[in-house]
Amino acid sequence: MSETLERWSTRRAFILAVTGAAVGLGNIWRFPYMTGENGGSAFLLLYVAFVLLLGLPVMMAEILIGRAGRRSPMQALAHLAGQAGATPHWRWLGLFGVTTVFLILSFYSVVSGWSIEYFIESVNGNFVGQTPEEIGASFNAFLADPLRMTFNHTLFLLLTLSVVAAGVSGGLEKLNNLLMPLLYLLLLVLAGYAVTTDGFGAAVAWLFTPNPAAITVSVVLNAMGHAFFTLAVGACALMAYGAYMPDHQSLPKAVAAVAVLDVTVALLAGIAIFSVVFSQGMDPGEGPGLMFVTLPIAFAELPGGAWWLAIFFLLLLLATWTSSINLAEPIVATLQGAGLRRGRATALVGVAVWAVGMLSVLSFSAMADVHWFGEMTFFDLVTTVPTDIFLPVGGLLIAIFAAWVMPRDTVVRALDAGPRGFRAWQATVRFVSIPLVVIVLVSGLL
Ligand code: PFF
Ligand code: NA
Repeated sequence: MSETLERWSTRRAFILAVTGAAVGLGNIWRFPYMTGENGGSAFLLLYVAFVLLLGLPVMMAEILIGRAGRRSPMQALAHLAGQAGATPHWRWLGLFGVTTVFLILSFYSVVSGWSIEYFIESVNGNFVGQTPEEIGASFNAFLADPLRMTFNHTLFLLLTLSVVAAGVSGGLEKLNNLLMPLLYLLLLVLAGYAVTTDGFGAAVAWLFTPNPAAITVSVVLNAMGHAFFTLAVGACALMAYGAYMPDHQSLPKAVAAVAVLDVTVALLAGIAIFSVVFSQGMDPGEGPGLMFVTLPIAFAELPGGAWWLAIFFLLLLLATWTSSINLAEPIVATLQGAGLRRGRATALVGVAVWAVGMLSVLSFSAMADVHWFGEMTFFDLVTTVPTDIFLPVGGLLIAIFAAWVMPRDTVVRALDAGPRGFRAWQATVRFVSIPLVVIVLVSGLL
């Protein structure tokens, strides 16, 4: 193989790894229910704007820190801060990121466990011939059953951590990216089916007719958090991947490819799911169960639906698997940096994430009436605060570090987009992204 080909293959590998981290529950599960709860088109518009104005520039900042530091997040931050003559306390930003991914992983595993349950139920043909009401009722029965929930949560965490412990995520990334087009194809089929339903027109209107009246401070805050979440930005998780970036690769181009993939998956899922919502007269603001109720209904109407549904959940599982590996990796790497062996570190992370995840499991049964903040169950809290507050705060600090603290030459090299590309990036981060996060965070918290 020629050298150029090999280098091309590593560039591609980098894009695939970042896509693996980005595409997951955020697109297919979280995006639709957040859109449903936050005024439809208003949320979609803000989310796309935040992806462009914040998500992309900050994603570049995060990855270029890893690329310039060529170390694990905490060490990279300390090293680069030293180089710039800034305080080594910047390394605590890495620890803050670890806390964020830890909390996210704790519920990510629980919800991915729902996909395992739904995969098995689809294979067994459990949804065939069921009415929408029955499908909804069986989801609620599942949530109320802590044993089944715990089993799936445990299984998913074991799947994730066995890959992390063996350090073989490369193989999984390849498998994931081999099968990702299939997930895409299935979503296209679903969206195509959606066009034929009565609810399609209403779904398109709900998603795309401007509705500025629906924009409130909390909708803006939620859309910003979601933009970070879906791109996997703000938790120093992508910083770790940046350390393995090849020497010659334009960061803006790589990041743009990831964002396009990520947004299209969300849009296809949204069109499919809201068409079902409106043709069945359901409530778009149904919450986290939205996907798990609508998709079985949609597939039930398609020929061979049970099999399509099983394949869909299998592919979704694969997509969430690569995201959860990305979530677990920085925690394990940090413990390793503190002197633990990889196997021990992984086991420790597993026990801790499992225990905190149990609070989410029980939020639907034994602890449904335990309110942690206002009316929120633990699950409500852990699916909102780390995403809507911690990721933007982390992203803000990452942006400040890359655009104001790091020496210009280091950034120019790590961004790899030429002097003009650098200037455009720096101006965007300094004068658009940073002020925007501050304004939204401050008004959201007041
Ligand atoms: N981007 C993932 C998704 O959309 O499902 C979730 C995620 C992964 C968030 C990694 C944060 C992270 F660091
Ligand atoms: Na995503």
